[in-house]
Amino acid sequence: MKNCLFKVCHAINYIITRKNPIKIHSPFLYNMYLNAYKTNYDIPNELLDYENKLKHSNEPLRFQSLGANKRFIETTISYWHRKISCSLNKRLFIIGLAQYFKTNKILELGGGFGFTSALLAMSNTDLEVYTIEGVDDLCKQLLKLKNRLKIDNLHVYNLEFDEAIDEFISKNIKFEIIIIDGSHTYEATLNLINKITKIIAPLSIVILDDINYSYSMYSAWKNIKKIDFFEVKIERYNYGLLIKNSNLSQQFLKI
Ligand SMILES: C[S@@+](CC[C@H](N)C(=O)[O-])C[C@H]1O[C@@H](n2cnc3c(N)ncnc32)[C@H](O)[C@@H]1O
Repeated sequence: MKNCLFKVCHAINYIITRKNPIKIHSPFLYNMYLNAYKTNYDIPNELLDYENKLKHSNEPLRFQSLGANKRFIETTISYWHRKISCSLNKRLFIIGLAQYFKTNKILELGGGFGFTSALLAMSNTDLEVYTIEGVDDLCKQLLKLKNRLKIDNLHVYNLEFDEAIDEFISKNIKFEIIIIDGSHTYEATLNLINKITKIIAPLSIVILDDINYSYSMYSAWKNIKKIDFFEVKIERYNYGLLIKNSNLSQQFLKI
């Protein structure tokens, strides 16, 4: 009930306080906006067919969940896919960002069934897409997808986020795009944002999903947008963007 009330207030506040994107002054940011929100990309049929099968699969799924609301889950693949997968528009938007940021490496923290990472990897075979999923059974699904569609540039890690980031730090691997779509709690989110500063490329963007998931996630976002490490912070309705670009001045936009 409390969370429903938060979501209604958040939605009203967002509608009242957001600015028209036409007010973005920086050409870098305005072109980013135009490019990423107008991405045209035909999703490969084999990926669409594979996802359609999962959407209708009544195969049982049992696991101990990670992130916010940790509990034992007993469900079906179709139900869980519906519950956790991100929207097609958001996936296309990330493809647009990958093009705009001339990306070599993308990291997705929270792979789920893997369709976002798979689509990104298939959109450009020169991209190296790393996806981290801590739940063994979901990671098995992700590996099945990778192997069935032979997506060689998709790298799947069955690890906790912290462990995966430590591995990237030790190997000095840097990413131009990092998607954070898991660990929906205040502390975990702030810790992750601080930790990823060690694996981020000089010109890069972080997508923090579900900032409207709960009051604590939005409080985390309110703190994150004060971090100077990222020059630009952009608030959208249900996600935040953090941009590292030393040519830009410190700024916050709600669009
Ligand atoms: C919302 S889902 C991801 C959906 C996916 N990004 C997509 O676009 O379809 C979040 C995933 O993050 C995983 N996760 C959450 N916290 C984690 C952690 N600390 N370490 C590893 N995986 C975690 C969960 O198991 C879950 O599958």
